[in-house]
Amino acid sequence: MKSILFVCLGNICRSPLAEGIAAKIAADHNLDLKIDSAGTAHWHIGKPPCENSIKIAALNGIDISALRARQLQEADKNFSHIVAMDSQNYKDLLALGFKNPYLIGDYGELFGEDIPDPYFFDGFEGFHKVYAMLDRSIQDFMKKERLWV
Ligand code: 4NP
Repeated sequence: MKSILFVCLGNICRSPLAEGIAAKIAADHNLDLKIDSAGTAHWHIGKPPCENSIKIAALNGIDISALRARQLQEADKNFSHIVAMDSQNYKDLLALGFKNPYLIGDYGELFGEDIPDPYFFDGFEGFHKVYAMLDRSIQDFMKKERLWV
């Protein structure tokens, strides 16, 4: 089975939202995919997604409240597709020996733009932009990489 792991820094803002979006696409289209997310850092292990990610997901009909943060681990090398949320996550993946990770900024007409780290946003507003960026780029990624056929 093909499998997608979305990776950000804390696994509480961007990658759980990406996981929720991809899981909804998979469910809506009966795609047989394993979908998960992880953080390169250990700081938030066991924590639910940040409140604003839960909120923007809910506004779009996706419930990510039951997800819990975990740190990237060796066994994650078994995922067929590993997707970094920004160029630092991408570099970290390479440094940890992950082969051929994908960068979400290469999809959905982001033209290399990183998914900004909403942990440092002032309030909720930026989450609309992050959601739109992720929704579009994840759909494009899944189509281009033949995960959605
Ligand atoms: P994420 O956001 O990588 O999208 O989950 C962050 C969450 C927490 C921190 C940084 C980024 N932090 O420094 O604690």
